[in-house]
Amino acid sequence: MYLGLDLGTSSVKALLIDDRQTILGSASADLTVERPHPGWSEQDPDSWIIATRKAIGQLRQSHGVELGRLRGIGLSGHMHGATTIDTAGNVIRPCILWNDTRSHAEAAELDADPRFRRLTGNIVFPGFTAPKLKWMAAQEPENFARIAKVLLPKDYLRLWLTGEAISEMSDSAGTSWLDVGKRDWDDGLLSATGLERAQMPALVEGSDRAGALRGDLAGELGLPPGIPVAGGAGDNAASACGMGIIADGQAFASLGTSGVLFAANDRYLPNPGSAVHAFCHALPGTWHQMGVILSATDSLNWLSGITACDPADLTAELGETLQAPGPVMFLPYLGGERTPHNDAGIRGSFTGLGHESDRAALTRAVVEGVAFAFRDSLEALAQAGTRLERVTAIGGGSRSGYWLEALATVLGLPVDVPVGGDFGAAFGAARLGLIAAEIADPLDVCTPPATDRTITPNRDHKSAFDAAYGRYRALYPAIKGVLS
Ligand code: XUL
Repeated sequence: MYLGLDLGTSSVKALLIDDRQTILGSASADLTVERPHPGWSEQDPDSWIIATRKAIGQLRQSHGVELGRLRGIGLSGHMHGATTIDTAGNVIRPCILWNDTRSHAEAAELDADPRFRRLTGNIVFPGFTAPKLKWMAAQEPENFARIAKVLLPKDYLRLWLTGEAISEMSDSAGTSWLDVGKRDWDDGLLSATGLERAQMPALVEGSDRAGALRGDLAGELGLPPGIPVAGGAGDNAASACGMGIIADGQAFASLGTSGVLFAANDRYLPNPGSAVHAFCHALPGTWHQMGVILSATDSLNWLSGITACDPADLTAELGETLQAPGPVMFLPYLGGERTPHNDAGIRGSFTGLGHESDRAALTRAVVEGVAFAFRDSLEALAQAGTRLERVTAIGGGSRSGYWLEALATVLGLPVDVPVGGDFGAAFGAARLGLIAAEIADPLDVCTPPATDRTITPNRDHKSAFDAAYGRYRALYPAIKGVLS
């Protein structure tokens, strides 16, 4: 038995698999995001522990015997968050999350130092970890002075589980302190933000052992003491392990809180100019690229909030049959955008509203706008040397057939939908737990799930969607001109 723990933005999920990788059960506990100021996004790391205890507790009610036979744990989590710890192991301030853009000025300053793009292979985005620490040094010097360790969110869970400060390559690649080609911290980049290697966790590969479960905690949680905790992965690389996306050119499109178009690479392929992320994958000797949209299902959630209508009901209102794009367009930049604009200041917009525009027209515009944002990432990946032939869809938004057909049509690619099951980040984390515990061959473990159905681009509407994408592209500079 192996347990995957995925610290998501909106919940912690615990998922249990057996040695044949059959999912035996899962449980989750909700988390909230605090937004005390515009552009800020924070979570209290203690809430992660409370939610993890809750999720494991729930799983214990249905699978207590199996949990008692656990052999390994794998971790996954939302990336880039700055979790700061003092010498006594206490959290210094709330974690600043991946979608927090307060440190945009600091990010631009670091990005102007050519060492960052050269060594990390990425733009220093405001959501990445290094600029957040630079912000802390300037705005909260008393907190900054207390920092003994900077941990990524899932690695804080590891500290709680094992007592050890360890990270792995896929998540660390999103800090702006890792030399992504060499898979090691870079001392020069750390010192540019007033930090040193001793304040960083030790580094392993995602499939390596990285600590063992503390005896006292094991008793409390009903798990065997001393079992290995794998390095694990950032949530996107973990999802890729869950979906078997580890060989060069395989790709997924994740319609989650953020939208991610992810491609596995057998070598390091940076291209910061196109705002593509180039990170280490979770398995040794592998890398990946991705385009990241900050608000994917988050855009639909926002519409759901203001219309007081459940997101699933909103998409159900669109029916089953894909329509050609309507006159209403939506830019999904509610919290700024990473790929392709690297613009923390841009905000979303609806255009083309008329008296006839009803709720369904707004939902359609949101669904189409997010699909167009994915097309931007597809173009950015192409500029970075990666041409995709098909993608596998994952994430909450992929439950909408309408959304998937719009996505397939806008991307001009077949979209594979895996058989029913939960092959996301928690499953990938459990797989990494299995590999670490049994020293198994990752290629034997990280296989793709069977495809349930493939959604192909809608030929009747292809040219209308292409034309609408052209209008979508023209909207960003126009709206930016008005906003700034
Ligand atoms: C990736 C990113 C997001 C978070 C969401 O760079 O910021 O996908 O990992 O959980």
